[in-house]
Amino acid sequence: MTLLRDEDLAAAFDHASHTYDALVAANPGYHAHLRRSVRRLGLPAHGEGLRVLDLGCGTGASTAAIRSVLPAAEITAVDASAGMLARAAAKPWGDGVRFVHAPAEFLTDAGVHGPFDAVFAAYLFRNLTDPEAVLATVHSVLGPGGRLAVHEYSLSGRRADRAVWTLVCRGIVQPAATLLGDGPLYRHLWRSVVDFDQADRFAARIRGAGFDKVRTLPLPGWQTGITHTFVATRTGASR
Ligand SMILES: C[S@@+](CC[C@H](N)C(=O)[O-])C[C@H]1O[C@@H](n2cnc3c(N)ncnc32)[C@H](O)[C@@H]1O
Repeated sequence: MTLLRDEDLAAAFDHASHTYDALVAANPGYHAHLRRSVRRLGLPAHGEGLRVLDLGCGTGASTAAIRSVLPAAEITAVDASAGMLARAAAKPWGDGVRFVHAPAEFLTDAGVHGPFDAVFAAYLFRNLTDPEAVLATVHSVLGPGGRLAVHEYSLSGRRADRAVWTLVCRGIVQPAATLLGDGPLYRHLWRSVVDFDQADRFAARIRGAGFDKVRTLPLPGWQTGITHTFVATRTGASR
């Protein structure tokens, strides 16, 4: 199968938006792992006075993780899928959270301007046509000392980890998604991970975008060797 990209991917997420929360709820640790990755940003407790960008916020699972760890931070949450974003925006957030319908590639056009203190991107980067261009954009919207956390399926390179990923997708995720009418998106999910950078390569790309203090951290459970948090700091000037 070919990968879904850009408008085709946004349309597939629009279609899948009504079942997305139920599917991720069936994934043990999904929400706890997101919160762990937010904590790995290493920001001051509560996030008072901080601006955080949630890139590819989907139905708001990552936004909720940021809100939980940094309840006082001001959050801008962006997504290219109107359907996913509508689900997110319909949830009760209180003050300090705004949702913007835009591709990550065109933040400025959508009125999303830095400087941010942190950017969080969960399960976004392997979906992008040009991840390096978006890393450059993320670098430019972060202020000096700004932090990046990318929470992503990025395989370790061990054959056993790839085999577990294939087993989970073929045995559990794809049959469930096909029943729900979203087979193409979840076949894309398997392929997008297999085709994406392995963890060392993606960390190198983050360094190549001008970030410092790049670290690759594992997540627990069946996702060890499959999902990582990549944390980094923008110390240098804008490129
Ligand atoms: C797998 S979901 C993850 C959602 C959320 N971050 C979470 O943790 O549950 C990926 C999201 O990225 C969005 N996305 C994909 N490509 C995008 C792009 N180029 N710009 C903005 N959002 C994009 C999709 O619409 C989708 O909502």
